[in-house]
Amino acid sequence: MAYPDSRPRRLRTTNAMRRLVAQTTLEPRHLVLPMFVREGAEEPRPVPSMPGVVQHTMESLRKAVVEAVEAGVGGLMLFAIPEHKDAIGSRGTDADGPLNAAIREVVAEVGDATVVMADLCLDEFTDHGHCGVLAADGTVDNDATLDRYAQMALAQAEAGVHVVGPSGMMDGQVRAVRRALDGAGHTDVAILAYATKYASAFYGPFRDAVESSLSGDRLTYQQDPANALEALRETALDVDEGADMVMVKPAMSYLDVVARVRDLVDVPVAAYQVSGEYSMIEAAAAQGWIDRDRAVIEALTSIRRAGADIVLTYWAVDAAHQLRRR
Ligand code: PBG
Repeated sequence: MAYPDSRPRRLRTTNAMRRLVAQTTLEPRHLVLPMFVREGAEEPRPVPSMPGVVQHTMESLRKAVVEAVEAGVGGLMLFAIPEHKDAIGSRGTDADGPLNAAIREVVAEVGDATVVMADLCLDEFTDHGHCGVLAADGTVDNDATLDRYAQMALAQAEAGVHVVGPSGMMDGQVRAVRRALDGAGHTDVAILAYATKYASAFYGPFRDAVESSLSGDRLTYQQDPANALEALRETALDVDEGADMVMVKPAMSYLDVVARVRDLVDVPVAAYQVSGEYSMIEAAAAQGWIDRDRAVIEALTSIRRAGADIVLTYWAVDAAHQLRRR
């Protein structure tokens, strides 16, 4: 049937009609808020390249997590910036290191009212800025890094984390983390695997947010943006190794990958709307070139429509408030 018998516009005539036929939902519970805490900070410090995002003090972090829980977000993803970095990222595994301390504080504050997740990677903690430890020749040593991730997983589990997010793209990292957790009786700690993480220019502002020490690049461990099949292979391996949930990152330039991963697996799929995706919209909105609130909801809705069950976004609380007002 074609025009004039067929008129698709009939289903767009009123708000109520559009609401009735809307296929994709976006709710606060779908959103996870990434948060940064800086060891030794006395005041929250704005991140210049991410307007509206701060490096928290422990105290401002506590307040912000309460606000996030009140807004109804699905979870929190914690990152920390240590005062001292070294070659093996010691502050990432020290029980009193800033990330483990933050997990303890946050869990004490909100308990099980939301899902507390932590980034499980060494890059914030190493003086060379790589996600793993280095071999004598300066390359990233995959298998030696797995031991460090296992230790980090235990430290985070002991601090009370609900979900660990291994994000370093080492081969075998999910298996190493699962074994370490199970071996110590932390069988309830879940793994959100960064199964597909591309070597992306869109992480630029994040490196500012965590004061990254990296001078080179991550091309030997993060994926080539040209490849989609590799993402499916990485995802299948991670599920096989015991991932409870898998992630695609970044989101917006990789919605095809989100859709294909969603079709491939039977575990929840998350997508990370990364720092560059955030900052581009904020910057355009600050110039008056784009309607910020509408762009935020449209971008998040598109990630859900592509197939993400969960979206990590710096706008989680902001978007949750917008959704409540609707
Ligand atoms: C690595 C990590 C990165 C991000 C999250 N975890 C940075 C990187 O791989 O360089 C980027 C997140 C963002 O850009 O918002 N621990």
